[in-house]
Amino acid sequence: MLTSRRKRTAAAGCLLTLRHPLCPARRVSAPVAVFSATQRTGGLVEMAIFIIALLSLSVAMVGVGGATTATTPSSVHSVFQCHDWGESGVGAVRVMEGEACWLPCPLFSHPTVYNYSSIQAAGLNLVWYHVVAGQDMEQPIDFHHPDQRLSKEREKLWLQPTTTQDTGQYICMLRNRTLCAKIAVRLEVVPSGQDPNCEVKAAVPPTQVIVPLQEGRILTCPDLEDIKLPNTSHSVTWYHECNAFRNIDRVFKGDKLVIHVMLEHYQGLYQCVVTYETKGRAIKFTRVVNVTAVSSSGLPKKPNILNPAKEQLYPVKQGSEVNLTCRVSLPYLEGPRETWWTIDGKTVEQLADPRISFTSRVVLEYFGDWTVENVLRIQDFSSEDLTREYNCSGRNGRDVATRRAVLEEESEE
Ligand SMILES: *[C@@H]1O[C@H](CO)[C@@H](O)[C@H](O)[C@H]1NC(C)=O
Ligand SMILES: *[C@@H]1O[C@H](CO)[C@@H](O)[C@H](O)[C@H]1NC(C)=O
Ligand SMILES: *[C@@H]1O[C@H](CO)[C@@H](O)[C@H](O)[C@H]1NC(C)=O
Ligand SMILES: *[C@@H]1O[C@H](CO)[C@@H](O)[C@H](O)[C@H]1NC(C)=O
Ligand SMILES: *[C@@H]1O[C@H](CO)[C@@H](O)[C@H](O)[C@H]1NC(C)=O
Ligand SMILES: *[C@@H]1O[C@H](CO)[C@@H](O)[C@H](O)[C@H]1NC(C)=O
Repeated sequence: MLTSRRKRTAAAGCLLTLRHPLCPARRVSAPVAVFSATQRTGGLVEMAIFIIALLSLSVAMVGVGGATTATTPSSVHSVFQCHDWGESGVGAVRVMEGEACWLPCPLFSHPTVYNYSSIQAAGLNLVWYHVVAGQDMEQPIDFHHPDQRLSKEREKLWLQPTTTQDTGQYICMLRNRTLCAKIAVRLEVVPSGQDPNCEVKAAVPPTQVIVPLQEGRILTCPDLEDIKLPNTSHSVTWYHECNAFRNIDRVFKGDKLVIHVMLEHYQGLYQCVVTYETKGRAIKFTRVVNVTAVSSSGLPKKPNILNPAKEQLYPVKQGSEVNLTCRVSLPYLEGPRETWWTIDGKTVEQLADPRISFTSRVVLEYFGDWTVENVLRIQDFSSEDLTREYNCSGRNGRDVATRRAVLEEESEE
């Protein structure tokens, strides 16, 4: 997500589109100038109005930012301001100290707005800055440092390897003489040695993999296929809960881990450590795959209504609150699973009666198979309610099951 950091640069919106008639572009060179000018001529109110005006322009301009055609106002090339998208909304990138990491410039996560290939063709430059944690200064990244630890490749910044000092914000700025936009991404380098129980071997969140019991699955190391490693050989080593392993059911095949027959105790976190060499250095990164077993796909998968049971009667009392509890078994299948009540064929949402509501929750889970409880709550139960037809239903990817709940009025004692 791109989020705009308007707080910091009130005048930002006009900067993408300097030549827009609404933009006082040539006069607004930097926010500092704006503030001092308005302060000199007088009141806070005036300044506030000016800033509000700029903010609304900023809102108006965001939508058209990417697709403008410009004539170059050659007089304003070095001082004009940069459109600041703030910090990327996807959250910090985390990496273990000593491992390799790459940061894609988040401007390009919206290819309809910024597209790396076309931007390169248009001759725009991508520049990276580092803001050290706790500081406020944007320092250009030195790609010519003799240690060659930092490099860039297309829209990615590479750190091979990371050190704890790399923690902080990285700002990628895209600019030519008329256009400028920037966005920040936060990097958190997790000190190694903070891992006594093998909890976070790789600080990147695990990839989830679901394997039915008794079945086979091939695991690939996340990110390995997507990144372009230097043109050297690499190797991948797999661990299960941080332990080396090898047996008949689980074998290594090239970079991959092949599970021939899934068993319950093969569940858990698998770490894959990718090692390669670059610039004379051995580099590695670790990723984690979280393997979960679900019930075998050979077992019955149809949903089943447990309550209302065949002969079950639901006691109700006029004028009081009535809860009808439905329990449905919903075996694991990919895709959504749900339960719902209907009253005379209408769902609670369709009825939109404030007296009627329901709650639904998983009360039991066993290898992905759910037992769901869905309680229909009717307040101030009326004689009319007594005559209606109450049906509970459950659905998974295989089928829908429905059963009617038969009500019985409790006699007054
Ligand atoms: C990016 O631009 C290139 C070249 O202009 C084009 O081929 C490609 O389809 C564009 N990609 C997207 C996602 O718009
Ligand atoms: C800067 O890039 C924009 C967008 O690609 C383009 O329209 C504009 O002509 C470029 N300006 C210069 C001076 O190259
Ligand atoms: C990468 O390695 C392959 C095989 O070792 C070789 O054929 C290819 O030319 C190399 N590419 C570059 C860009 O060095
Ligand atoms: C692994 O997956 C299981 C089941 O989806 C989940 O309960 C568990 O929290 C996950 N563990 C991690 C470390 O993500
Ligand atoms: C019905 O269920 C709700 C919660 O779902 C509970 O607060 C309420 O006390 C229940 N009413 C009766 C009559 O059991
Ligand atoms: C309610 O469920 C019963 C099965 O128990 C079914 O025969 C009936 O058609 C259902 N009614 C509606 C309105 O869906």
